Amino acid sequence: SSLPTSKQFAQKDGYRFFMEKEIYEQSSVVSDCMLGRIKDNEILFDEIEASIIEGINEIKICACGTSYHAGLTASYLFERLSKVKCNVEIASEFRYKDPLLTKDTLFIVISQSGETADTLEALKMAKAAGLKTLVVCNVDNSSMTRVADATILTRAGIEKGVASTKAFSTQTVVLWMLALYFAKAKNVISNELLENELHTLREVPKTLCISDKIHEKMKRLSKRYLHGHGFFFIGRDVFFPLALEGALKLKEISYLHAEGYPAGEMKHGPIALADPELFTIALMPKNLLYDKIKSNVEELSARDSTICAISPLDFELADDFIKINKTDHYMLEFFEMLIVLQLFSMEISIRLGNDVDMPRNLAKSVTVE
Ligand code: G6P
Repeated sequence: SSLPTSKQFAQKDGYRFFMEKEIYEQSSVVSDCMLGRIKDNEILFDEIEASIIEGINEIKICACGTSYHAGLTASYLFERLSKVKCNVEIASEFRYKDPLLTKDTLFIVISQSGETADTLEALKMAKAAGLKTLVVCNVDNSSMTRVADATILTRAGIEKGVASTKAFSTQTVVLWMLALYFAKAKNVISNELLENELHTLREVPKTLCISDKIHEKMKRLSKRYLHGHGFFFIGRDVFFPLALEGALKLKEISYLHAEGYPAGEMKHGPIALADPELFTIALMPKNLLYDKIKSNVEELSARDSTICAISPLDFELADDFIKINKTDHYMLEFFEMLIVLQLFSMEISIRLGNDVDMPRNLAKSVTVE
C-alpha cells in the first residue's frame, strides 16, 4: 500500500475532537469538491466519460450508513432534476434479495472508505450482471474505485471521526452535481433552472461556514436534550434523509434513542408515542413543503411532544427554536440544517462525557459482514 501522506497524520488543530474539526472543515472541502467541476454553465467531471449515461433509463444506488442517506437525498435530486427513475437500497439488503437488474440501469455506490464489505459486494454483483457502475468515494485507489467502471472522488480529505460529517456533505454535493450533469446531457433541464442550480451550488461553501452564534446556541440547547428518552427527527422530501442522518448522528455518539421519519408518516403509528418526554426535532424549510411540515408538527405539538424546530421562519409552537439563515433554495436550507444537526449530536455527546471520535461498538469502516 502507498506511503502515508501528511494528511494521514491529521491533527485536531485546536478543536476538541476530530469530529468538530471535520464539521468546521466542510465549507472548505466542499469548495475543493466543486473545484474545476463547475464551469460557466456546465458541470464537468473529467473522470467520467459522457458515454456513461448512454442508454441509461434508470439509476440504482447502493450504500450503507451515512452514505446511504446521501444516496436517498440524491434520489430526490435525480428524479427532480435529471428526470430519471432512481431507487436506493441498503447494500446488505440488496445483496441477498435476488435483485432484478437491467442493463439500462446505472449502478451507483457511495462510500467514504471504498471498503465497506456489503457495498463492495453489491458493486461486484452489479458489475457481474453487466451494468455500468460508478462509485462516489472519498478514498482513491480503494477497493471500490478499483472495481467500478468510473469513480468520482469527493475530495473531503481524511475523515477520522467515526461519525461521518464532511464525507456526507461532499457526497451530497457530488451527487447533486451529477444530477445536473445528467439533466444537461439528457437535455431535460431549462437553461434558467440550470443556471439557478449552479448559482446555488456555488453558495454551499458559504452556507457551511459556522457562526459562533449558532454553535453557542447548540451548546446551550444540548443541556436540555441530554436526558431525552426518545427523539423523532422529522422532515419531508430531502429533509427526510436529512432527518435520518440527524437521528443516526445522535445514536452513534450520544447513545440516545432517535429515529428519523418522513413527517407525513407520523400519523401512521409513531405519533402514538407523543408525550412531553418525546422530543421532536422538526426540519422546517421555507422553500419546500413548508405548510405540509408545519401541519405535521402542529399535530405533534397538540399531542404534547416537546418540539425543537429548525427553520428560517419563526414558529410559535416550538418549545425550542433554532433559526437558520434565510436562503432561497431548499438545498441551502439542507446544508444549514445539516450543520445544526451535527453540532447538536456532538454537543450532547460531549456533555455526556462520551468519546466523540470513537463511539462504543462502532468502527469507521466495516470491512466484514
Ligand atoms: C460505518 C461508519 C459509518 C459509515 C458506514 C458506511 O458504519 O461508522 O459512519 O457511514 O460505515 O461507510 P462507507 O465508508 O462505506 O461510507
